[in-house]
Amino acid sequence: MGEFVRIFEMSARDGLQNERRLVPAAEKIRLIDMLSDCGLQKIEATSFVSPRWVPQMADAAGVMAGIRRAPGVVYAVLVPNLKGYEAARPANADEISVFASASETFSHKNINCSIAESLERFRPVLAAATVDGIPVRGYVSCVTDCPYEGPMPPAAAVRVAAQLLAMGCYEISLGDTIGQGTPATIAAMLDAVLEEVPAERLAGHYHDTGGRALDNILVSLEKGLRTFDAAVGGLGGCPFAPGAKGNVDTLAVAAMLADKSYETGLYIERLGAAARFADSLRGGGHELRDHPCHD
Ligand code: HMG
Ligand code: MG
Repeated sequence: MGEFVRIFEMSARDGLQNERRLVPAAEKIRLIDMLSDCGLQKIEATSFVSPRWVPQMADAAGVMAGIRRAPGVVYAVLVPNLKGYEAARPANADEISVFASASETFSHKNINCSIAESLERFRPVLAAATVDGIPVRGYVSCVTDCPYEGPMPPAAAVRVAAQLLAMGCYEISLGDTIGQGTPATIAAMLDAVLEEVPAERLAGHYHDTGGRALDNILVSLEKGLRTFDAAVGGLGGCPFAPGAKGNVDTLAVAAMLADKSYETGLYIERLGAAARFADSLRGGGHELRDHPCHD
């Protein structure tokens, strides 16, 4: 048996949040139910964010209420603040994720506050989740490149990753939000982050815009990471990050890992069916959205 690598499935959240067509909740539920039979242990189902900012996710509660809960599968959701957490809790999210950025500009564009303010907002979320026994994951966006600031120094990702860990996040997912990372920049960023956060507490979240995501996963495997975020059909993108195309394709990651003799526990044919269905939901990505209050 090869070593196990976990894939955290992103298509229902990161995948669909960027679609122009408002995907009906029933179709999202069908996608998640299909994914539930694919051997995945973790599925990010939706996000409890402001519907003014991301209308596609306005049906988060309905989606969570409609999905079939497969035994052994963790259904995670994104929350940006306590309001999001208070909605995620009655929706029975098994796990939540807070999301910060290594880039000040992206932080403002995405969640309308500075990095420091975002971390302060997460404190009460982590406190409440700890009381409720809900694990919290922390994202750091723009770990190598920012759509607004360009290349990012590794120290920027380290600072935020270390603070999220210290705050109580069980895992830090490192986001190459716009898929411009290369094995060299990802390796340099990881070397710096690994000084503060052990590999078993890190995940790679690599968008594939530049076509290097699989190479970036390979270099991350060499550095000891064993969890990667991916989306069937390569769906994905952030409405506030120009050029943030799809996440790395789950099937491509699974194939590469199998080739390298890693175990993933995934059912490839079922994933293929889910990928075809996910692909049928596509209606084209958003144009870049600005702060909705400036509309
Ligand atoms: P704001 O406008 O500063 O917030 O947005 P506010 O507190 O002034 O509230 C504005 C309105 O939103 C109010 O409603 C609030 O009640 C409501 P109104 O009075 O106008 O009717 N509101 C909420 N509603 C539902 N759920 C909530 C919530 N919070 C406030 N949780 C805010 C600040 C953070 C809310 C906003 O900027 C936001 O929701 N941003 C989310 C953006 C987003 O979802 N981006 C994509 C996910 S991140 C990503 O994709 C990157 C990742 O994949 C990793 C990577 O690739 O790097 C994770
Ligand atoms: Mg993403």
